[in-house]
Amino acid sequence: MIKYTENASLRPYNTFGLNAKAALLVEYTAEEDLPLIFADERVKNRPFLHVGEGSNLLFTKDFDGVVLHSGIRGIKPASQTEDVVLLECGAGEKWDQVCEWCVDRGFYGIENLSAIPGEVGAAAVQNIGAYGMEFKDVAVAISVYDVEQNKNVIISASDCQYGYRTSLFKQPAYRNRFIVTHVLLSLSRKALFLLDYGNIKAALLERGFSLAQGSDKRKPIRNLRGKQITLHAMRETICAIRAAKLPDPHVMGNAGSFFKNPILPKMVYDTLKGEYPDMPMYEVDDTHVKVPAGWLIERSGCKERHVGDATVYPLQCLVLVNRGHASANDIIQLAALIVEAVQERFGIKIEPEVNYI
Ligand code: EPU
Repeated sequence: MIKYTENASLRPYNTFGLNAKAALLVEYTAEEDLPLIFADERVKNRPFLHVGEGSNLLFTKDFDGVVLHSGIRGIKPASQTEDVVLLECGAGEKWDQVCEWCVDRGFYGIENLSAIPGEVGAAAVQNIGAYGMEFKDVAVAISVYDVEQNKNVIISASDCQYGYRTSLFKQPAYRNRFIVTHVLLSLSRKALFLLDYGNIKAALLERGFSLAQGSDKRKPIRNLRGKQITLHAMRETICAIRAAKLPDPHVMGNAGSFFKNPILPKMVYDTLKGEYPDMPMYEVDDTHVKVPAGWLIERSGCKERHVGDATVYPLQCLVLVNRGHASANDIIQLAALIVEAVQERFGIKIEPEVNYI
């Protein structure tokens, strides 16, 4: 099914809830629709933008071109062994529904990515990540429609140039060439939990679960004292941690982390740590660390900042929220104030994770 709507509101397609318009919105439900869409006179040779749920987009003005949205559905095992399941998912599935589907069936590997807003296609483009897991850790291959060649292509995940919130599909040369139609994920049927990030262990202990010794790094958990950790418990714990500090975009418009966590050479971090002993970090490799931008923003005095209805979310300063009637301009101005404050205080340039359109 293909549906063309002229002068369409993009409010349903951006979690900030901004009322930008698209000259033409094209919604479709099958990969076979794509060659037809791109052969259509209304679409041919016009700028286009493919969106998912828009959980990482900031429409700075109306889009004078074609906005595409995929409704390709389906979550189905492509093959299974005793240990591993290969799962094929349509780009238009909601990511969290895939997480729930896997948890319900005892498939391990994406439970820590529970409750991330957005759709499967965008997860593959953005390489979503949380609580020690990233999309790329389970991705095997991405099926795309190649707009230039007018054909479907399968790209191995190892060729997708996956990095921190980035991929081949975000590179300017490929952004408007490949449209994700399906992803192939590899999930484990063996109990393997990832508990190392932040307060996951503390949250599990609080809920009465036992942590086996050496439960670091994807080792099976054995029951010692307390309840045995289950996949459902893991998902519920992640959802609870997120709900406690991240605003629900259905209640208050936002796009999750507005900025990326900056990656610094260890030497720079060590110098800053001399001055700010409580500055947190995550190891990236032997020479680099990632510093939480939320912490930098809070410590730059931005916790209470707002421009109109665009405000910093005080429980997690990395998130900017629309408290009601914020305009794109309010959000842009607030983001600029924050970048400046962090630069001034720490000499670090933070960059948006959100894509300005
Ligand atoms: N912190 C503060 N003040 C704040 C926010 C955070 O001091 O206002 C401190 C926290 O106390 C903690 C540290 O910063 O010590 C890290 O905070 P948190 O665990 O919330 O993670 P994050 O680094 O702020 C990243 C991702 C999130 C992801 C979480 C969990 C980025 C840009 N963000 O946030 O992803 O859910 O880790 O893994 O990498 C997203 O991309 O939209 C997103 C929400």
